[in-house]
Amino acid sequence: MSDYLMEYYAGSTEPWAVSVLQAMVRLRHPVNILELGTFEGRTTRAIAEVMPDHATLWTVDIERRHGGFGDPRIKFFEEDAITFLRDICPEKSMNFVFVDDDHTFGHVSTEITMLRDRCMASDGLIVMHDVIGPFGLDKIVEREGGFIIALPLLHAAGGLGVIPAYPRVQKKMPEAVKNRLAAAGWASGDAEDFLG
Ligand SMILES: C[S@@+](CC[C@H](N)C(=O)[O-])C[C@H]1O[C@@H](n2cnc3c(N)ncnc32)[C@H](O)[C@@H]1O
Repeated sequence: MSDYLMEYYAGSTEPWAVSVLQAMVRLRHPVNILELGTFEGRTTRAIAEVMPDHATLWTVDIERRHGGFGDPRIKFFEEDAITFLRDICPEKSMNFVFVDDDHTFGHVSTEITMLRDRCMASDGLIVMHDVIGPFGLDKIVEREGGFIIALPLLHAAGGLGVIPAYPRVQKKMPEAVKNRLAAAGWASGDAEDFLG
């Protein structure tokens, strides 16, 4: 088995998905980041590598399975995710959330509702792991108006579901973007549904 698959089957997020998460963090420079499901902390460290110096990464696991992070920006909570979302997560604080703990449908569904109702900042983005495969989490992504990033050529499960914290806002595409597309020969007349 390749190193890639060994790493994937060991329970950590697959490397390409970690790269996508890092790209999102670089792009959105979130101040408060939450990871539900720390495990051995590989993705935690990968996110911390690229997050702003002044950001805080809150990471939660029902059981401690890592040796600590040595980074004052990372706060680990040995806690059930639902308890964390109900009692600990500061209200309307989270700009970027990675949901990767208990993957059962009811649990994740409750998490997404609690995140949206209580924890997310208005510009927040929720990214769910393992939306492809036996858990049926793609249905939650669809229900919440999100989209899926998956590489089914590499494996039959995994993938990321991306959900804006609040229902998609219809925005006019900025004139500067339209002009750039037009200059490149792209028609943008119908592209009014622009996610800011
Ligand atoms: C797939 S692993 C997380 C992988 C990690 N995010 C990564 O990318 O390396 C899932 C983790 O969720 C934790 N977990 C399961 N149920 C949980 C719950 N109800 N609350 C918090 N953590 C939970 C498990 O202990 C396990 O460490």
